[in-house]
Order: sequence, then structure tokens, then C-alpha cells
Amino acid sequence: MHSSIQTKLQTLPLPLQELLSAAAVEANDRNWPLYLVGGAVRDLLLQQTEQAINFRELDLVVDANHSASVQGAAELGCALHKLYSEAHLQVYGRFQTATMIWRSHPQLGNFSVDIATARTESYPYPAADPDVVVGSIQQDLSRRDFTINALAVRLTPPRCLENTPVLLDFFGGLTDLHHQHIRVLHPNSFVEDPTRIFRAVRFATRFGFVIEPQTEGYIRDAIASGIYQQTQTHHHPVPALQSRLKKELKAILKLPNWETALVLLSELDALKCLHPQLKIDQAWWKQTQLALSWLTLFDPSVKAIQPWQLILELLVAQLRSEDRAKVAENLCLGEHSHQRLSTLAPMQAEIHSVLIYPRSPSQVVQCLRRYDLPTLLLVTAQSPLTVRQRIWQYLQEWKTVKPLLNGNDLICLGYQPGRDFNAILSKVLFATLDGVVQTKGEAERLVLDYFPL
Ligand code: CTP
Repeated sequence: MHSSIQTKLQTLPLPLQELLSAAAVEANDRNWPLYLVGGAVRDLLLQQTEQAINFRELDLVVDANHSASVQGAAELGCALHKLYSEAHLQVYGRFQTATMIWRSHPQLGNFSVDIATARTESYPYPAADPDVVVGSIQQDLSRRDFTINALAVRLTPPRCLENTPVLLDFFGGLTDLHHQHIRVLHPNSFVEDPTRIFRAVRFATRFGFVIEPQTEGYIRDAIASGIYQQTQTHHHPVPALQSRLKKELKAILKLPNWETALVLLSELDALKCLHPQLKIDQAWWKQTQLALSWLTLFDPSVKAIQPWQLILELLVAQLRSEDRAKVAENLCLGEHSHQRLSTLAPMQAEIHSVLIYPRSPSQVVQCLRRYDLPTLLLVTAQSPLTVRQRIWQYLQEWKTVKPLLNGNDLICLGYQPGRDFNAILSKVLFATLDGVVQTKGEAERLVLDYFPL
């Protein structure tokens, strides 16, 4: 794998190769070593065929142990921006990290490059934001999560001399890629950053790797030590932790084999990081399968809710109703999810109280039309068969029924447009749904009877 990294770089889309060359020239002009790091190196090394990978994001690191100052990344970003003025440049933070963003690049689509100055960090307390200082590329790589993510490719010369390998592998990342192992760099990694537990599971599932036994032991130790409490307190000094956790959960639930990842999280007891009582049992899998199949059917263009978000809501919906809102808030699930989860119990009680008895189609529609599809799916998942059948009929059939008359028809009958129109049209709709009227003529007679001119 090592010897072929050059060949792999040549499989990158041409605009990316040009961009990396331009960045290397700019860094080299300043005598700064520049590296490609992180997921792109890993994914290039894992690439089986010569087919180009469509990267959305690249990470570059300037090694400050040589002559670059803390401003190195920002300066490099500005130099590149002069060459690529169509991109948007952001420079932020004490470490002046630069991000170049292309929205709809003609060949690359939405694409970004992060440039950072190599640094080292320490954690003042578990799960805290780290204290960071300028460091070497080796130190920069050593603060990363897993060996397979701690590889770097040097982009500036000398690139291929015997003592300066083009690929930096200080921690055995290549061997772990070969043996398909997720291995952490140091025992404290999960205590310092509990989101790495979710990352370990994500990478293991995504690549079909195993979390090697010692690393798994560190995960179990971190969870047993109660680290998960850090991830459940919204007013914890690190609110960023919660949003990183959500980002990881989202990435996990977007995997094609997300079920495998959830099983692994559950086996590791890591769902405790979301709530101590959160468990997934047979009933939950069945409910979730049902809700997702209804979602595909009733929201084929994915407008109402993304599947990953529905799965996350279904997870939280399992908790006691008084705990749901807090977990939704901790996980930064967003306003709509928070609203749905915090009011799910009364909405469910209301829907059950109506639909548990035999009802006419119009009564079902009057009960359900106030709720959006995601709410109905959450309710359906936890409802008895009779209620589910009613919700199904509503979504499948009754929801789309239109009244036999419209506003223009009412005007033609002699009614003045105004607030009464809603009541009249609802009356017609309900009569249509219940089969009381079957033709336009019957509908007109009904309106004239009930709402004399
Ligand atoms: N990283 C880390 N610890 C974290 C998050 C990120 O050490 N909690 C490091 C890893 O070296 C990772 C890099 O930051 O490779 C970039 O992070 P990210 O973009 O989240 O992940 P990628 O590895 O690029 O993976 P993906 O392909 O999913 O984007």
C-alpha cells in the first residue's frame, strides 16, 4: 500500500491534483512542509480500484516545527485564495485555521479544503475542549483518534527520499488498515473525547473492520467510569461535545448498514451516552422497520424528514415521556424534533382515544390532519394494530381526497368569498369522505341545505 500512495494520488480528479500541487508550491516557496492528512489518506489507501474517489473535504497540515508560525495555515489559505478566487475563504480560531469552500464547483460539486497548522494538545479535564499549542506533524498526528486516521502524505519536496518517506506512519496505521483494525492511539482517548466511541463504531461498520480487543477494552472502561454523564448534560462546559455527538450519530445512521452499527453501540453499552435507560430491543427494531417502510412509501422524495432523523427520534421516543425533551435538547436535534418528542405523549393519547373505537373516515381525517407525517410515524410505531390500520388508511387513501366542490364552485353558486368558505368546504370534504355525496350536484344540494344563501 505504502509504495502505491503516489499512484493513488494520481487517481484524484484532476482539479484536486492541481489544487494540491498549487498548495505544495505555495508552502514550499515559504519553506513549510505541507501534508495531506486524515480521512482522505485513509480512503486513498483503502481504495481498491483505480476509480477516482469523490472527496467532499480534504485536510492539509502545515508543520510549524519548521519555519511556519501559527499564522502558517491562514497565510497559505490567503495565497491559495488568490489562485482560486471563486472559492470562499474562512479563517477562524486562535489557530487561524483556514477553510476554502467551493459551492457547486464545476467538477467537484460542493467541496472544501481545511488547512491547519500542526499542533499538539492536552485535555484539562475529561471531555473538555483541549488546550492546544503549535507542534510538529508527529505531535499533530499523535493527538488523533485512530491509527488509520493518523497517516499523512507529504506534499512538499523532498517527497521520496529514503529518509523522508512520502507516507508518514508513526503509529502502525498501515498495518491496521491491512488487518482491518480500529485501534486507538492511547488508552485515555475515549475519556478525553467520548464521541470517539461513536467514531470507532462508525469506522468499524463503514469499512467492515473490527475494533481491536484492547481498544474495545478502553471503550468499556471509559463507559464504566461514567464518562457518558458528560454527554448528557446540556449545560456542561462543552456544548460542542453534544453537537459533535449528534454529528457522529447522524453519520452512523446514514450508513447503509446502520443497523450493524446500532447493534455494536448497544453491545458496547454506548447508548448510555445518550440516556442511561436507552436500550434497543426486538420491539424497537420492528417498530423502526415499520416506520421506515411507511416513510419510503409516503415521502418518496424525502421532504418530510430524513430517515436518519426519524431513526434518532424513534430511539428517543422509547424513553419515558418526561425524559424525551431533555435528550432531544442535549443531542441538539433541532426545533421540529424537539417539539415532536416533547409533545408525543399527549398527541399519542389524543390519537389513541379517538382511533381505538370504530370511526367514520371523516372522523379519522379530522383527528389526524393536524399532524405532520413524522409525528404520525412516531405514533404509529408505538400503536396497537387497530390504530395503525386507521393511520394507514388515512395516509394511503383519505388524506388525499379532495372535496367535490372548490371555492370557484361556491362563488358560482352565489356565495361571497370569506371565512365561511373553509367551513363549507370542510363540510363537503367530510361528506365526500363518508360517501354522503358522490357527485358535484349532490354536493351543491348539501351546501345549499346546510348554508342557505
Ligand atoms: N479526529 C480526531 N478525533 C475526533 C474527530 C476527528 O482525531 N473526535 C481527526 C481524525 O484524524 C480524522 C480527522 O480529524 O481523520 C478529520 O475528522 P473527520 O472529518 O470527522 O473524519 P474523517 O476521518 O475525515 O472521516 P470521514 O470520511 O467520515 O469524513
